[in-house]
Amino acid sequence: MSSFHKIVVLGAGNIGGTLAQRLAERSLADELVLVDIIEGLPQGKALDIQQSAPILGFSTRVTGSTSLEALRDADLVIETAGLARKPGMSRSDLLGKNADILEVHAKAVRDFAPAAIVLVVTNPVDVMTHWFRQVSGLPPGRVFGESGTLDTARFRWFVADELKVAPRDVVGFVLGTHGDTMVPILSLTSVAGVPLSRLISAERLAALVERTKKGGGEIVELLKMGSAYYAPSAAQAELVEALGRNEHRLLGVTAHLNGEFGLTGLCLGVPVVLGRAGVERVVEVELTASERTAFDASATAVRADLEILAQRARSPA
Ligand code: 2OP
Repeated sequence: MSSFHKIVVLGAGNIGGTLAQRLAERSLADELVLVDIIEGLPQGKALDIQQSAPILGFSTRVTGSTSLEALRDADLVIETAGLARKPGMSRSDLLGKNADILEVHAKAVRDFAPAAIVLVVTNPVDVMTHWFRQVSGLPPGRVFGESGTLDTARFRWFVADELKVAPRDVVGFVLGTHGDTMVPILSLTSVAGVPLSRLISAERLAALVERTKKGGGEIVELLKMGSAYYAPSAAQAELVEALGRNEHRLLGVTAHLNGEFGLTGLCLGVPVVLGRAGVERVVEVELTASERTAFDASATAVRADLEILAQRARSPA
């Protein structure tokens, strides 16, 4: 028995395909469907992944489809569809086009899979998570976004590389928005419990924080034709595993806020406890004064994008 009966991954691009591979290899679903509008792409990637089953030993059935009816009775939907950044673009530049795509998908989830948990990956993820929840009408705890685990993984790697220690021993949180105003929480980052301030100079730490904030952009500039997908799909698979195995892990996700951290009516990267039903609770960790100021700037940036989306809805092009 797998963790999920049916997982549907919307979008069979680099993230969707890589994620489907990771989920199948971990046997996290009985059935896994890749969906895309490009005829042949989801079917081809699905068949390719499926044919690795005899070698890797998983029994997940992997198929592809161009129809949103494939969502029927899914218990987990992962939204990866939409445009990715090109060099010189910010995640917010994707707002309008991706909102249109997600609107169609959110309505399909409402109609075909109203009991599903939805993990949103499409950028700008904080805004798209809010939008998907609003359009689908699903409960807030069942629609959340991935960004904190990815941004935190990048920060953890930069710290591990700096100190030449095992990456998994570096723990911490990067909170706020998935954009330039994201907030690496230094007061909560340690190497196996040893605070960073005892291990790295303030100057070096500031450089690692800056590199983390621009972590996605660094890869966009290198690839020149798309954005990152290996680390993003690893972060998403970690969340799916935490959900599916009902682990109650404390992880950073883009969650709906209803008064937590003094904020309401937006989704932002915060620590949550994740269980089989989705976000069980937001954990309101105490921030230092400067972290709090940066976190509030994150909220302001997300609200500005939400306002653009609301204006669009009021006067569609
Ligand atoms: C990133 O940060 C794709 O937004 C994603 O790489």
